[in-house]
Amino acid sequence: MATPHAADPCAIVIFGASGDLTKRKLIPSLYELYTRGQLPEGTFVVGTSRTAMTDEEFRESMRPWTRDNAKGFDDPRWKLFARRLHYHAGDGATRDLYASLTPRLATLAKSFASAKADGQPNVLYYLSVAPSLYEPIIGALGDAGVVAEGKRWCSLHPEQTAWQRIIIEKPFGNDLASAMSLNMALGRVFEEDAIYRIDHYLGKELVQNLLVLRFANAIFEPLWNRNHVDHVQLTAAETLGVGSRAANFYDKAGAVRDMIQSHLLQVLALAAIEPPSSYDATAIMHEKIKLLNVARPIPHDGIGHHAALGRYGAVGDTEPPYVGEPGVEPARRTETFGAMRVEFDNWRWAGVPFYLRSGKKMARKLTEVVVQFKRPPINVFERFGQPATDFVPNRLVINIAPTEGISLRVLGKVPGANFRIESAKLDLDYHKTFGGEPIEAYGPLILDAMRGDRTLYKHRDEVEGGWRLCQPIIESDVLRKGIETYKPGSWGPPGSDAILAREGRIWHNPAQNETR
Ligand code: BG6
Repeated sequence: MATPHAADPCAIVIFGASGDLTKRKLIPSLYELYTRGQLPEGTFVVGTSRTAMTDEEFRESMRPWTRDNAKGFDDPRWKLFARRLHYHAGDGATRDLYASLTPRLATLAKSFASAKADGQPNVLYYLSVAPSLYEPIIGALGDAGVVAEGKRWCSLHPEQTAWQRIIIEKPFGNDLASAMSLNMALGRVFEEDAIYRIDHYLGKELVQNLLVLRFANAIFEPLWNRNHVDHVQLTAAETLGVGSRAANFYDKAGAVRDMIQSHLLQVLALAAIEPPSSYDATAIMHEKIKLLNVARPIPHDGIGHHAALGRYGAVGDTEPPYVGEPGVEPARRTETFGAMRVEFDNWRWAGVPFYLRSGKKMARKLTEVVVQFKRPPINVFERFGQPATDFVPNRLVINIAPTEGISLRVLGKVPGANFRIESAKLDLDYHKTFGGEPIEAYGPLILDAMRGDRTLYKHRDEVEGGWRLCQPIIESDVLRKGIETYKPGSWGPPGSDAILAREGRIWHNPAQNETR
């Protein structure tokens, strides 16, 4: 049996070390890996940003965030972990930084006994900076000559030569053209195999479990097609508003860019791809790209039948509407809710709509996939007086967050002398059943990059395919002008319901206490 490649020790160089993501996610998840004994010996972190700071100050600034965001924090372990944290001030977008950073990495690697034969450690660069800095930093890495990955493949003993890889955060571009430009900038410096476009949704247990559900069980796949599936719904709903993120990022992005183009399309891809030949990066990427290639372009004419945008209103006098959040330019008409309808022109899915929606300040925090099956062709039980339209169709609900599990709706006869049919649920809660604690998605993803496994990362063609699909929505004046205000705590604007209603369908909106 093939075992996963072990993670190589490396230097993790985080650009944007004083930023939010580093504090909230990256350092806490590295700490979690460390306490679980999963961070390879010899691995160390060098944070870099323009702020002047000593190693000690950097460690101190990370401590409270790790305490609040990592599982199992305690001081003795933090002290041991913190020895691996270092800081190097400078501007990653200028080659000068690398004149001092490269020798520093070599010295640290020596002290951690993780230098390769060429004196350098493996380096995992992590771009956790404002997107406008991506290309300048990548360019500077190229100019400084610190990336020799391609040469490594050709060396006699690649394992003795240090590798360089890069993890790049979302947003990956702001539209198709900027994503292509970023891909080109990356491609000029790194081999595609060394580029890790991260999507933290792919690190969620249940997203991976989607493939297990589909391909480790034999009973679902025969039904997973146009003959049996009526339609598929994907929802990523959040209860929080945009708040202070509006000014720096959100108002220029909106829900379609922020959530649908990135996370939801990835979940959709795993729900809809053909069986990969094996669970490996190339096979899965291949299938995802094939699927995106047959997504039917959203037409400009009648786009309102395929997509809807909304932004949340106020909550009384206590919470402002989106347009009242600090830094929002109302004239931009940025959406905090987006819904779209996608179809795939392939043998499996022709004619089966996939409905996607995501929004802020919605009724519940919930990420789920709902596969709704067709109704039986006839109602054998007609003589008992219940019309077939009363029966809830079979529905498989895959809950990705917050409670991970799946449920299958089936019809059953209510016990008793009367012949009454009602819908019931077969329910599997992953944590109750299998135990184990959910782990912050970033840790395992970073570990995958250290082992050279890109299965849960995105290929350039996937990113471009995602943008191509969403581009007509993003640039539609019709949709922007028609943006609706929705009630906070609701399931979005009427335009979203109308997309399904036109086809005789409704969204699956679970009640507050309903698990799936
Ligand atoms: C991020 C988005 O990528 O994902 C945020 O930028 C969003 O706007 C977040 O809130 C949601 O992630 P999760 O894991 O809480 O569903």
